[in-house]
Amino acid sequence: MITVVLGLQFGDEGKGKITDYLSDKYYTVVRFNGGNNAGHTVVTSEGSFKFHLVPSGSLRSNEVILGNGMVIDPFGLIEEIEKLKKANANVSIKISKLAHVVTPLHKYLDKAEEEVRAKLSLGTTAQGIGPTYEDKFARTGIRMVDLLDLQIINDKVETIYKMKKALLEDSEYAIKENREEMSRKIKEAGDKLREYFDYTEMVIYRRFEAGKSILFEGAQGTMLDIDFGMYPFVTSSNTLSGAMSLGSGFPFRKVDNVIGVVKSYVSRVGEGPFPTELKGPEADRLREFGHEYGTTTGRPRRVGWLDLPMISYAVKMNDVDSIALTRLDTLGKMEKIRVCYKYLRDGKEIDYVPRSFDELSEIEVQYKDFKSWGDLNDSVIEKYEKEGYSALPAELREYIEFIEKSIGKPVSIISLGEKRESTISLKR
Ligand code: IMP
Repeated sequence: MITVVLGLQFGDEGKGKITDYLSDKYYTVVRFNGGNNAGHTVVTSEGSFKFHLVPSGSLRSNEVILGNGMVIDPFGLIEEIEKLKKANANVSIKISKLAHVVTPLHKYLDKAEEEVRAKLSLGTTAQGIGPTYEDKFARTGIRMVDLLDLQIINDKVETIYKMKKALLEDSEYAIKENREEMSRKIKEAGDKLREYFDYTEMVIYRRFEAGKSILFEGAQGTMLDIDFGMYPFVTSSNTLSGAMSLGSGFPFRKVDNVIGVVKSYVSRVGEGPFPTELKGPEADRLREFGHEYGTTTGRPRRVGWLDLPMISYAVKMNDVDSIALTRLDTLGKMEKIRVCYKYLRDGKEIDYVPRSFDELSEIEVQYKDFKSWGDLNDSVIEKYEKEGYSALPAELREYIEFIEKSIGKPVSIISLGEKRESTISLKR
């Protein structure tokens, strides 16, 4: 089975939890985009694990792969590998030689670029993601395989410095010795990581030929896609399902199953349009109930009601087969639950998501109200195990079925709490 798991909103949909839940059925788990702008927490009986670079599926799979489409901070990765080895001693780790390297200089540039953008700043995670992809596409980027050669690192750092001099002039990187010192440290990190380097596109293909199951784990979400998201308030990579192919080398036509992860409300960090955003005390309550603070940055997340026109769009763009619906326990704590089910423009329903503030100001967001299903505790899960779908509260079933009808795809997984055991594969 070849499966892709993706977020259909603005990231933080709970992909980590869903991937972890699924991953014991997969031999290999692959990440194909982004870097440590992502943050996922997996809660198991052994404790809570926070990862930024290694896939969330790495606690239970045999093998994890960091694909060529990623941008990797080698220092962060060394720390995560140490943590991972404590949690899953037998996991095999492979890093694409073709993935690009985030250096401390790129992190500096991320902040400096945000300052230059001033009122156009987008609130990045300041992890150097944008500047590293810039260098990749400028063909001056440092790849993982380059970490084996100090001369190449030095030459590339010098080129990047010359190209970005205006932004680096006031930094420690303006001094050549500091740049050289940084390059030496990167080389040392490369020496520690080289045992994991591989042409991972071929590793993945070999696994496929041997009939192994493979899970591809997306980072961020559809609305953060560089092309189809709310540009410029997006990340610097493609986040749609198609990106798994270019970010790992594996052909999309061989994928069996695409699972879209949807949080039962919406959250986002950073700036940009958000049609169903909530403000005031109701937003504060939802934020507190859901502990909606960035895993990477700690920033309070903006929150709002589930936006089904956005999900319908994402379902089409990603060719989603079924939905994993998360955080139903959090939403059940709200007295009133709303869902946006339609956008109107000039009084007519539209099937696209407007992508500019001007167009968005012209749309009318239509809501349907639902009764709350209240607290969902472990007894609901026990009851479900004995009695099946009908054991779920009627209000919750109504909510799930409304979503399915609106987007034309089944909800195959629901998540009722942060623990691995609070996840249910729906059978009806
Ligand atoms: P960058 O990816 O750090 O350049 O940030 C660009 C935008 O994407 C900002 O609005 C970030 O908050 C957002 N972003 C990036 N990664 C994630 C994620 O994993 N979850 C949620 N938002 C993210």
